[in-house]
Amino acid sequence: IWIVDKNVENLKSCTQIVDAARLLHDGETVAFPTETVYGLGANALSDEAVGKIFMAKGRPSDNPLIVHIGDKEQLREVAAALPEKGAALVEAFWPGPLTLILPKTDRVASLVTAGLDTVGVRMPDHPIALELIRQAGVPVAAPSANRSGRPSPTTADHVLADLTGRIAGVIDGGATGVGVESTVLDVTVDPPLICRPGGITREQLEEVIGEVRLDPAFLQESVEAPRSPGMKYTHYAPEGEMWLVQGEESKAREQMRVMLAEAKRHGRKTGVMATEESLSYWQQQKEADVVLSLGSSRELGEVAQQLYGALRQFDDEQVQFIVSPAFPRTGIGMAVMNRLEKAAGGRILFV
Ligand code: TXA
Ligand code: MG
Repeated sequence: IWIVDKNVENLKSCTQIVDAARLLHDGETVAFPTETVYGLGANALSDEAVGKIFMAKGRPSDNPLIVHIGDKEQLREVAAALPEKGAALVEAFWPGPLTLILPKTDRVASLVTAGLDTVGVRMPDHPIALELIRQAGVPVAAPSANRSGRPSPTTADHVLADLTGRIAGVIDGGATGVGVESTVLDVTVDPPLICRPGGITREQLEEVIGEVRLDPAFLQESVEAPRSPGMKYTHYAPEGEMWLVQGEESKAREQMRVMLAEAKRHGRKTGVMATEESLSYWQQQKEADVVLSLGSSRELGEVAQQLYGALRQFDDEQVQFIVSPAFPRTGIGMAVMNRLEKAAGGRILFV
C-alpha cells in the first residue's frame, strides 16, 4: 500500500506512483483512486495482465472492463472511431465520470471487452489516476476494485478488505469524490443509450447532445407492485435482506418502522438508511439497531458519496434486515436509485 496525498505539488516525482506505474507496466494489478470509486488496474493491451483482474475479483469473464486513458490523445490507441456526438461529450466531460462505448481497435486485449467489438473508455478526473496511467505508458483496464458482488470501494480500506493478498498493491489517495461509478453511454447507436446511470447525469448529457435514451429498467416510478428479485439485481447486494420503501415521506417512514419492528420480533439485527433529516427520528425509535446517515436528502451528491460505505458498514455490523427510503430519480439520483435497487435485489415497496 502506497499512501499519496492527491494535493501534493509534484505528483510526477512521487516515488509511490513511479513504483506503482512500473508494476502496471510489468503486467501486475494495482488499485488506485479515481473521482468515482477505486479501480483495479492492469495493462489493457495484455490479456495476461487483464486476466489477473478477473482472478483477483472473481469476476465472470463475460462482463467487459472499462479502459482508462491518461490523455485524450490515447483514445486513438483503443477506439477505432469517435462519432460526432461522442466527440462533443469528450470535450464537455473528460476528464470526468463518463464512459463512452466505442468501436475497439485490435490492440485492446480481448479479455477487456469480453469478446465484444466495442470498448468502454474514460479519462478519469483524478490527479493520481492520470499520473499513474501516463507513467505506466499504456491504457489501463480497470473495473471497480471490489470482490465481485460487493459494493464498489470508495476508500483504500474498502479495497484492502476485499483484495488483500490478491493484488500487487493499492495507492491510497483518500476517499473518492463522486462515490458511484461513471455513467456508461453507448455512442455507437443514435440516439445514444445510457447503459448504466452514473456520475454524469442524463440532464448534463442532453444539454450537450440532445436526446439520449435510457434502459426502461432504470425508470420504475410507474411500477405498482413490488418487483420480484432477479438474478441481475444481486450485483451490489449486502449480506442482509434489504428493502426500498418509496412514497410520501411520513407514510414511507411509518412503513419502514413497521417492517423494522417485525424483523426485530423475529430476532433479526436491523438497520436503516437514514438521512440528516430523519436521523434523530430513527435514533429515538428502538426498531433499528444500526442507523446510518447518507447525508442530506436534498443533496443527492452527498447521498451518492456515502452510499457504498454505508452498505459495507451494514455488512461489517452483520445487519440482517435493512430498510432504505427511495430518493428522487433526477440528476445523480438516477444512479443512486439504480444502485439501491440492485442492493435491494429488486425489493421495492410502494406506499
Ligand atoms: O467509475 C467507474 O466506471 C469505475 C472506475 C474504476 O473507473 N469503473 C467501473 O468498472 O465501474 P466496472 O467494471 O465495475 O463496470 C464497468 C461497466 C459494466 O457495467 C460493464 O458491463 C460496462 O461498464 N461495459 C464495459 N465495456 C462495455 C461494452 N463494450 N459494452 C457495454 N458495456 C460495457
Ligand atoms: Mg463494478
